[in-house]
Amino acid sequence: MRVGILTGGGDCPGLNAAIRAVVKRGTAEHGMSIVGFRNGWEGVINGDAVPLTRDDVSGILVHGGTMLGTARCHPHKVEGGLDAVHQTFEDEKLDALICIGGDGTLKAASKVHKSGVPVIGIPKTIDNDVVGTDSSIGFDTAVSIATEAIDRLHSTAESHNRVMVVELMGRHCGWIAVTAGIAGGADIILAPESPFDIEAIGKKIRHRHRYKNFSIVAVAEGAIPAEGSDWDADDTLDSKGNPIAGQVGAQVTRAIERVTGFPTRLTTLGYVQRGGVPTAADRLLATRFGVAAIDAAAGKEFGTFTALRGERIEMLEFSEMAGKTKYVPEELLRTAWGL
Ligand code: F6P
Repeated sequence: MRVGILTGGGDCPGLNAAIRAVVKRGTAEHGMSIVGFRNGWEGVINGDAVPLTRDDVSGILVHGGTMLGTARCHPHKVEGGLDAVHQTFEDEKLDALICIGGDGTLKAASKVHKSGVPVIGIPKTIDNDVVGTDSSIGFDTAVSIATEAIDRLHSTAESHNRVMVVELMGRHCGWIAVTAGIAGGADIILAPESPFDIEAIGKKIRHRHRYKNFSIVAVAEGAIPAEGSDWDADDTLDSKGNPIAGQVGAQVTRAIERVTGFPTRLTTLGYVQRGGVPTAADRLLATRFGVAAIDAAAGKEFGTFTALRGERIEMLEFSEMAGKTKYVPEELLRTAWGL
């Protein structure tokens, strides 16, 4: 059996661990040949393929990013894209394609599968917004980095009597802000799942500063002000409706300084959250997903993706996640606000 593999969408820690698991398990256990495509779907469209052996993936477990490269490209949105994917599939004599990606790449994978290509997905995204799986590759590392950043921001906050705002990634979900905010002891946590009222935030900070000289505010890049706020959430979005890095953080920082009068500073953590060495939890999840995906390819369970469900890895149909978003649940939001 010949199996292709690609990584699509934004990079994140753990991608190489998943590629390594697919190649090692596929060659050793199933006697397969594995072919990597460079730069996500772009590589499949252009036939940019490279054979992957055990030697090629040796030592990459701990490396951030992806040895295959990645791109935000979806074949169904490129003219002739789907036909080109079918052509490459034929040229490379493939029996299956494993796509490692976030919701965009997996939705594309679902469409490619529907067009007749046998596809299996592996969810990765620091945003943790893929429905059906408890976690995705990269999320745990991003939360660890964001938590460490909040820990470090406490130093300047306390020493300079400041309000420190830290803007965290997550697109339209607040998973990183909420979980790192709780783990780092942030005093205010703002997530898109619950529009915020700047006057109420100002009141909480003023009250806190009667007995403490600083506050930490964790804000998701997609956080939304409550209706009636004096700034428009649309100003913080790009032409595709996605958050522009630093915009929400800047608005929140200005608004807090205005309503509290306390010196307020912004740190936009940005791509640091997506870089570097994966945590042990991400290496483990990526390896389990890689093994499950290649075993599913051997068993011809196409049109499915790997999912962490409690203690187990299960294969779910693409229809379980396509067109849906996993938001932060009410219980976690209440925990973030209730301390
Ligand atoms: O989806 C991962 C993510 O890092 C989001 O949190 C963020 O909004 C987006 O990607 C940034 O995209 P780009 O890599 O295209 O700047």
